[in-house]
Amino acid sequence: MGKKVLGIDVGASAVKGGIVDLGKGEMISERFKIKTASPPAPMKEVVDAFAKIVEHFDWKGEIGIGFPSLVKNHVIYTASNVDKAWIGQDIQKVFGGRVGLPVFAVNDADAAGLAERAFGGGQGKQGTVLLLTLGTGIGSALFRNGVLIPNTELGHLKFKGDIAEKYCSSRIKEIENLSMKKWGGRLNNYLKHLDRLFSPDLILIGGGISRKFDKFKDYLTVDVEVRPAAMKNIAGIVGAAMAVNV
Ligand code: BGC
Repeated sequence: MGKKVLGIDVGASAVKGGIVDLGKGEMISERFKIKTASPPAPMKEVVDAFAKIVEHFDWKGEIGIGFPSLVKNHVIYTASNVDKAWIGQDIQKVFGGRVGLPVFAVNDADAAGLAERAFGGGQGKQGTVLLLTLGTGIGSALFRNGVLIPNTELGHLKFKGDIAEKYCSSRIKEIENLSMKKWGGRLNNYLKHLDRLFSPDLILIGGGISRKFDKFKDYLTVDVEVRPAAMKNIAGIVGAAMAVNV
């Protein structure tokens, strides 16, 4: 058994938590999820949901948080799919202060990447590994020989006249009612662009839509190995817990 930490994954439409064994990279409790108002949920609602999760587990130890923004030294710098009031907030003060416990935070995609690189689809992989989370936005986690380069925010790269997440996130697939073929083609264009920039050795695709990987993998002709992330919906929580060691 390794150290136990409460991992909290703040998403655009829900806050999820679970107790994580950092030695095994496993969730050792059930996953507790509280839905929040359609994005952007007011900041207070998110902090209330967080406090309810801490209370639900009767948690008294360290907490790791994955937050869907650029997070540097626990301070939030961007708010694309969350309440703008988050900009400039210190996560340790806002969340930690609310429950009186030590809190550590990283970007949500960096969290998922940390988990996948250590325990999931990218386990032990050397070279350049890129994880993308496709959901309301597009998050990214970039590793070189296992070392994370945080806050790459590759979903915000300028691409096709806007930013990439407005072109091929899974939310855009829904909004524009794109077929798998059409959306898969867009994702492929984006992956080709990322390949030219970073020459990754492996690209991992995470986020809910990665469960349907078999339905779009044939449209990904980019000359890089592309795999679905392996930890499904627990990567965000396990990786959030890993923030205590970042
Ligand atoms: C945010 C990222 C986040 C991603 C996935 C993007 O809009 O800018 O910080 O990782 O969505 O949630």
